[in-house]
Amino acid sequence: MGKKLLIINGPNLNMLGIREPDLYGKQDFAALCAFIRDCCERAGAEGTLYQSNHEGDLVECIQKAYNVYDGIVINPAAYTHTSVAILDALKAVALPAVEVHLTDVQSREEFRRISYPGMACLKTFAGFGFDGYRLAIDWLMNYLKEKGETA
Ligand code: DQA
Repeated sequence: MGKKLLIINGPNLNMLGIREPDLYGKQDFAALCAFIRDCCERAGAEGTLYQSNHEGDLVECIQKAYNVYDGIVINPAAYTHTSVAILDALKAVALPAVEVHLTDVQSREEFRRISYPGMACLKTFAGFGFDGYRLAIDWLMNYLKEKGETA
């Protein structure tokens, strides 16, 4: 049976194409969603996409993933650098999670260097633009496959 992945995008990612195009690119959020859906299909994953600008909604979305999804790909956006609540939600459901950032957060402002949700993630892909989501989905699918083989 195909693995079920939940792909979560945080605040302002719905403004892609409009927001700081020099940093985040000219493609809009619909294009990102289409790209992610295509990556899931190619990887043989059943992908569900979720985006919210609200921290509590992101926490609830993660909580509801418990016993439903096999893994999570998350770009927490600005909440990356502030949200212990999202970190705790990821720890609570204890699903394998991979963090994605369009930009290379480590080489930007000092305050972007810390990632709270990242502390509950197995892996981070940052600075690869849209392609980071493909890398995360493929990495997670491979991880789930290997885990299944050794279980
Ligand atoms: C981001 C990086 C964050 O620092 C920023 O707040 C975002 C997007 C990225 O994808 O590069 O909103 O997560």
